[in-house]
Amino acid sequence: MRAVRFHEHGGPEVLQVDDIDRPEPDDDELLVSVRAAAVNPVDTYFREGSYSPGDLPWIPGSDFAGAVEAVGADVDGFAEGDRVFGTGLGNDRPGTCAEYVATPADRVARLPEGVGFDEGAAVALVGVTAWRALVDHAGLEPAERCLVHGGSGGVGHVAVQLAAATGARVTTTASERYHDRIDALGARTVLDYARDDLADTVREAGEPDVVLDHRLDDYLQFDADVAARGARIVGIGNEDVAAGFDNVPAARSKELTVTLMSMFNTPDISAVLARLARSVADGKIAPEIARSYPLDEVDAAQRDVIGESFLGKLVVEP
Ligand SMILES: NC(=O)c1ccc[n+]([C@@H]2O[C@H](COP(=O)([O-])OP(=O)(O)OC[C@H]3O[C@@H](n4cnc5c(N)ncnc54)[C@H](OP(=O)(O)O)[C@@H]3O)[C@@H](O)[C@H]2O)c1
Repeated sequence: MRAVRFHEHGGPEVLQVDDIDRPEPDDDELLVSVRAAAVNPVDTYFREGSYSPGDLPWIPGSDFAGAVEAVGADVDGFAEGDRVFGTGLGNDRPGTCAEYVATPADRVARLPEGVGFDEGAAVALVGVTAWRALVDHAGLEPAERCLVHGGSGGVGHVAVQLAAATGARVTTTASERYHDRIDALGARTVLDYARDDLADTVREAGEPDVVLDHRLDDYLQFDADVAARGARIVGIGNEDVAAGFDNVPAARSKELTVTLMSMFNTPDISAVLARLARSVADGKIAPEIARSYPLDEVDAAQRDVIGESFLGKLVVEP
């Protein structure tokens, strides 16, 4: 099969397409013929070597959608030909930018008819991230106020929709050019993250009970300033919050909670994926595909995921 691999850590130029053997699924795994894989910032961290997954050469990519090709002996509930999607690969095991992937069955869910492979791949990692942040960690409830930083991003645009679907009032930030489209995703208030009076305008929209923050290094003090008493702040970014809350007095006086999380720790990925699949099928969450790339342009896709601005997700179609 054709698979994208890096044989050494470095820039996007270390990515190449190799012809390698198809993986054999273990007893608890599925072999999936990959129709779409999504690109995430974490793929670039693994490629650069800032976190090192398994031994090189390594296949990047966490998300996939495709058709089941073979079913491991111990796997129930899936059959050859099923349309599925999944995430959580590319870290403890090889990734998804390949024609086939062997995946543990507990990181997979069925993709409903009418939901495209590209949508399945696009929603998987960012959807599980948004779910773990807003539902598992923050316990977001209807009519609470939720601030999502970066509502045009991969995580952000799904988090806005998930929060709105729970009945929360969503405030989000994004570049001006995306505001109309993010309004349509269900945000009640969309603000330019570059405006000088951002804190005042967030407060005017309602002090948030929950904050989803992908740049805690930049916004920890901001979050503490605008948050409601007892607010829950979940940090997902690649942050180094060296100062900690000791230097943010509002965190103590408002009794704020801050949680740093990793999507890869989600205990039951397939259960979350199943809920996301239902939400997409019901039109509650619409993953936006900004651009698609063939397998031999994954280097460009990884360059763009860090260097370009877009609304939604970049997807690879082998
Ligand atoms: N912990 C986890 O489990 C987990 C899971 C997924 C992602 N992440 C991390 O979360 C971050 C976001 O991931 P992603 O996939 O959503 O990335 P993404 O698709 O590249 O989105 C990043 C967003 O940040 C916006 N942005 C840039 N500067 C900003 C600022 N000063 N204030 C607010 N927003 C700003 C960008 O908007 P413009 O394009 O308009 O500048 C863009 O929409 C990354 O660091 C990623 O590694 C962590």
